[in-house]
Amino acid sequence: MLRSYSYPIRFFVITVTMICTSSYASTLAENVDMYELGKKVYMTGPESCQNCHGAMGTGTSRSKVNLTEPTTWKAFEYQSILKDSDADLDYNTVAKAVISLGGRGWNERHFAELRNHLSNPNEKLTPFDEDMVGLKGPSRKVLLNHVKRLIRKSGLPKASQDEIEDLLSASVLTYIKQEFVD
Ligand code: HEC
Repeated sequence: MLRSYSYPIRFFVITVTMICTSSYASTLAENVDMYELGKKVYMTGPESCQNCHGAMGTGTSRSKVNLTEPTTWKAFEYQSILKDSDADLDYNTVAKAVISLGGRGWNERHFAELRNHLSNPNEKLTPFDEDMVGLKGPSRKVLLNHVKRLIRKSGLPKASQDEIEDLLSASVLTYIKQEFVD
């Protein structure tokens, strides 16, 4: 009896939470200059994105990835391999998640599940290189505090840690796309 009631209620709560989160995320994004924030993320600190990916996004000795060509990214490879599976995978979502979580965090949280969606288990899927630290580097705190200040200044309600991280990764992806790809 309890079960039959709790399912729809739980579904409702989850749905409403998701709708609220996504509308707050877009409100945040509308009130912040995503390019400027992304530029700051890309360049801040001694272990910044720029340090491994280079000022032009074409790579350094620490990372051969070419950020100017998203179709060469691993996230894009995942999207292509899984396009006929039941996983509705968008490479931008994967790229944002690996920036937020870093390679190691992403592998721990998502790689096994990704493999479950393969229709042919022999298909080759490689995890992310764990040298990709993304936002898990030493400047994380500085960047989180910077966003908290931006939110306070714009008079918006407080954001959760997850919302701030989403904003940081979305902004740096905006910067990469506008600066190196467009
Ligand atoms: C310590 C070096 C290092 C730092 C710092 C670093 N990265 Fe990376 N990044 C890598 C490596 C290595 C890869 C290759 C991962 C792979 O192909 O498995 C990578 C891959 C990527 C990719 C491509 C993802 C894909 O799907 O192939 C993006 C986008 C990216 N990094 C963005 C960033 C951003 C944004 C930051 C800063 C917030 C950052 N990186 C910080 C080393 C780094």
